[in-house]
Amino acid sequence: MQEWLAGQARVRARRGIVRHTTPRTGWGAAPLDLASNDYLGLAADPRLQAAGIAAVGSYGTGARSSRVVTGTHPVHAELESELCALTGQPAALAFSSGYTANLGILTALGGPGTLILRDEHAHASLIDGARLARSPLAAFGHQDLDSLRRLLAQRTQPRAVVVVESIYSVLGDAADLPATARLCAEHDALLVVDEAHGIGVAGNGRGAVHAAGLAGAEHVVLTATLSKALGAQGGAVLGPPALREHLVNTARSFIFDTGLAPAAAAAAAEACRVIAAEPDRVAAVGRNAALIAAGLGIEQAAGAVQSVPAGTPDRAAGLAIRLEDSGVLVGCFRPPSVPDGVSRLRLTARADLAPEQLRTATGLINSLLAATEVPA
Ligand SMILES: Cc1ncc(COP(=O)(O)O)c(C=O)c1O
Repeated sequence: MQEWLAGQARVRARRGIVRHTTPRTGWGAAPLDLASNDYLGLAADPRLQAAGIAAVGSYGTGARSSRVVTGTHPVHAELESELCALTGQPAALAFSSGYTANLGILTALGGPGTLILRDEHAHASLIDGARLARSPLAAFGHQDLDSLRRLLAQRTQPRAVVVVESIYSVLGDAADLPATARLCAEHDALLVVDEAHGIGVAGNGRGAVHAAGLAGAEHVVLTATLSKALGAQGGAVLGPPALREHLVNTARSFIFDTGLAPAAAAAAAEACRVIAAEPDRVAAVGRNAALIAAGLGIEQAAGAVQSVPAGTPDRAAGLAIRLEDSGVLVGCFRPPSVPDGVSRLRLTARADLAPEQLRTATGLINSLLAATEVPA
């Protein structure tokens, strides 16, 4: 085993895809963070912190058991109700993470009688959920609705689930939800929309499904993470009450998992209220996204995530390291996280960044991109 581990490490080093878990300190101070998913700057907001601390006082530091044993606390019901109020969905079920929410919905709906069709850029948690579901599976081209239509038309299974992200986590582009939902309705398929990067950002913070007028549509279900714009931790599935009831009874990543920590649930519930009350915070993400895109001469993507193609894994990793050395943190996405093989820098347009900071960062990125450009 030791020899095999060393061999695997050498392969990763050769391919330029080594990952690190470097501890970060001093959030809010230097370095400039263009990498995290705290899109609204709520992770350090005193109101969320106070809500979390109060929940620890009321319920303790952990939920103590699964939600279906003794681990459901009033704060979970409060969170689920706030999530419904924000997104316009009729029912919600909180999970311990966005990852387990995606595993839960796809395993609970899947099986041999359910065809699962996913966009090829769907997040790893959606891919893992689809695989665990033991369903027949296929990926359609990124945002390619013709290819989705062909796959739906060939289906032989009684049920079909189509899986997309409202705003894609690495590319930052937005799914065409109205057209995808129409296609699903025509083929009697359920549309599962992962709103990890949509809630708190798209549609005045209420998410892209709400903005598309699809909140409450019976054939559209959404999943969420509480760990990005909501500044907390955890996940949720939102949709019809019958689906919630089915998940409580069959989703293994809900039943066989300790309930979401009360502090995280309370902080996320508070984040929902802040988002509804402070539209300018949400609008600031769009303004900062425009500044990043203009500064880098790229097309502005739909939400907070702005994606800069960087070529090879080595070049992308080298750029990220040099930026970090200069005090700017950016995300670096390399295969297998990018199915098209194009490594990318991923910049997030957080609401609490100042225009001057963004000008400095984009100037630096431009000069490093030019200095490392490979002649054609
Ligand atoms: C699109 C998408 N779905 C799901 C997740 C998982 O969410 P969580 O970090 O809450 O497990 C993420 C984040 O990593 C994501 O980007």
